[in-house]
Amino acid sequence: MNRLKIAAGNWKMNTTLNEAVQLAKDYKNGSRANNVISILGVPFPFMHAVLAELEGSDVHVAAQNCSEHDKGAFTGETSVSMIKSIGANYIIIGHSERREYFGESDALLAAKLTKCLEAGLTPIFCCGEPLQVRKAGTQVDYVKSQLKNALSHLSTPDLEKLIIAYEPIWAIGTGETATPQQAQDMHKALREYLEELFSIEIASHIPILYGGSVKPANAKELFACEDVDGGLVGGASLKADSFLAINNSF
Ligand code: 13P
Repeated sequence: MNRLKIAAGNWKMNTTLNEAVQLAKDYKNGSRANNVISILGVPFPFMHAVLAELEGSDVHVAAQNCSEHDKGAFTGETSVSMIKSIGANYIIIGHSERREYFGESDALLAAKLTKCLEAGLTPIFCCGEPLQVRKAGTQVDYVKSQLKNALSHLSTPDLEKLIIAYEPIWAIGTGETATPQQAQDMHKALREYLEELFSIEIASHIPILYGGSVKPANAKELFACEDVDGGLVGGASLKADSFLAINNSF
């Protein structure tokens, strides 16, 4: 199955306006594989300026979160229609930092996914286990339940748009990476589970990205795994050179 290859960056709460625009510009102008979809996960205040900088290029922009509400009195929140109105096409939903620091539950994430898909935007849905779960050896069941709780209500056209990112929490920002075998084992288990939940067509179509200390030095090995369709990259996406090297690692 020829799935999309995706290099997605997640800038998290980093950069100033000038740094954000410069980073997008340097990445846009760099030499990139043309069969890889590039997505930059930009902080809300800078998305509009970054989109303007990227206009006419093949580099896409993702929001890092969205509200589960349409509009109204929700101070500090950002709706999917706001995100859509500035021209962004992707939203990262359910990052472990949102789950852990902002108490986002599977039920809330299911609602956010619905809003994102209703607006015609593409969700990058994150899942992944904490260290104690990995140590107990129950990581596959843990991540399967995240998928079941957040995705079960989606229809086939919705699922055809979905991107999943597996990000083991113990590998995020720690410098510790899942081995290619650990990543492949989980991605394969998730793909089999998607087949059980939905269908073989859906399971073989959905791109599953790996996230957790992806760097130019390990991206090739990870992306060579059969069920790893790319990366969701934090720290190494904050330098144009290193994110370009990751993009060129397929
Ligand atoms: P790092 O690449 O910095 O480990 O972050 C991964 C991540 O959380 C991407 O969403």
